[in-house]
This record gives sequence, structure tokens and C-alpha cells, in this order.
Amino acid sequence: MRYKKINEVKTIFNKISCSYDFLNTLLSLGLHKYWKNELVNSLKPIDGENWADLCCGTGDLSFLIFKKVSPNGSVTGIDSAKEILNIAKRRSKLIGNKFICWEMQDILEIDENIKIYDGICMSYGLRNLVNLEEGLKKVFNILSDTGRAGFLDFNHSKLNSIADLFQKIYLRFVVVPISKIFKLSKEYSYIEKSIKSFPEGNKLMQIAERVGFKKVEYRTIFFNQMGILLLEK
Ligand SMILES: C[S@@+](CC[C@H](N)C(=O)[O-])C[C@H]1O[C@@H](n2cnc3c(N)ncnc32)[C@H](O)[C@@H]1O
Repeated sequence: MRYKKINEVKTIFNKISCSYDFLNTLLSLGLHKYWKNELVNSLKPIDGENWADLCCGTGDLSFLIFKKVSPNGSVTGIDSAKEILNIAKRRSKLIGNKFICWEMQDILEIDENIKIYDGICMSYGLRNLVNLEEGLKKVFNILSDTGRAGFLDFNHSKLNSIADLFQKIYLRFVVVPISKIFKLSKEYSYIEKSIKSFPEGNKLMQIAERVGFKKVEYRTIFFNQMGILLLEK
């Protein structure tokens, strides 16, 4: 079951990789860049720190973090899907960025003995993990003693709230039909399913506390559509 889901997720992201950035920008009207900036600004990375962007996809967060921690720090973008990571590498090459290190790896498999980061960020990745609590535990274990982490994802709103209804209408009547033009409707229908099994904000905070984080904060943005989870050890 575990490996079936891991492979399912990998297959989805390898398949959508070519259209991923374009569809993200189109479907969010460019707002995903603003939300990612908001996450990075909340985390306040500074020059000299070592950061990891987990589930980095095509690397949006890695490029934002790079601007803050260079020239003395480091950024590692990690993703398990080869094709989407190749796009991140190509983006780096195109702008001559040799600073960011790209690694193809399942984040649940990261060696906890050799990786220690000052900060970890993740956008739209947590929801896709086979085991969310295991993912947060991994983040906890690869952070330094004073490390911090931040996660941006869809907010799982209360059932039948205005935010919930808006989200469903948007996903069913905007996202899926548009992705159908790109022959990716099956892959994009997955979003609604994954939000349904994604914990609400207060539950996310409880899980984070359970794995050991001392400071835990969750806030919603964009009319409760997105959520930002901020954690400190
Ligand atoms: C929705 S995309 C987000 C990409 C990027 N962070 C962004 O915000 O545009 C989710 C990414 O998580 C990656 N992913 C899912 N599960 C993973 C895992 N266990 N380990 C590493 N990457 C994973 C997928 O391959 C995909 O690139």
C-alpha cells in the first residue's frame, strides 16, 4: 500500500512536470508566487544558513531561499520525481545558478545522521506524503537544535464552510476542466482527494507538537484557501 502510493505520486508528478509551472501560474493567476514569498518571508532565512526545500518540484522555494542565504549559506532542493527535478536543474542552468544543490530522493528516506539544516521549507508537499506524521518527524530530526520549518499547502477548511465550497467549486469547475485541455484531468482531480485526507490546521499543529516541535503556529491566507504552518524546535 505504502509503495503503491509512493509510486502513484511519483508517476503523477513525472507526468505533469512539463506543464507544471505553466498550469500553476495559470490556475492560481500567478498568486502561488505571492504565497511562496509569504512563506519565505515568515521564515526569515539569513545569509550563511543551510536550508532544504523538501518536495521542491521545479524549485520555486529553493530559488527564493537562495536569494536570502547566499553567498555564505547553502540550499538543497530535494524531490523524488526525476522529471520535475530535471526542470529545476534546467532552470538553474539557464540562469547560471551553481549555488543550489539538487537531490533526487524520497524525503522519508533522508539519512538523519548526515543532514542537519538551519531551516526547512516545503510547499504543496506535505499533503502528498504517504505518512504526514513520519514526514514531520523526519523534518524534526534533520533540523538543527534551533532549526525552524515552514509549510505552505491548501487549507482543509471546515466541511460546508464558504471556503470549503469555494475550494470545491474552483477545483471541480476550473482546475479539472482546464487541466483536461492538457490531458491531465485525472492527475489534477487528485488535488481534491488529497485535501480531503489532509488534516485541518489545528490537527496539523497537534501532530507537529506530538513529534516534538515546541513552537507551532498555523495561519490561513487568501480567504482560508491556503495555510501556512510554522514550526520551531
Ligand atoms: C505539488 S508538487 C510541489 C512542488 C513545489 N514545491 C511547488 O510548490 O511548486 C509536490 C512535489 O512533491 C514531490 N514529492 C511527493 N512526495 C515526495 C516524497 N516522499 N519525497 C520527495 N518528494 C516528494 C513530488 O514529486 C512533487 O514534485
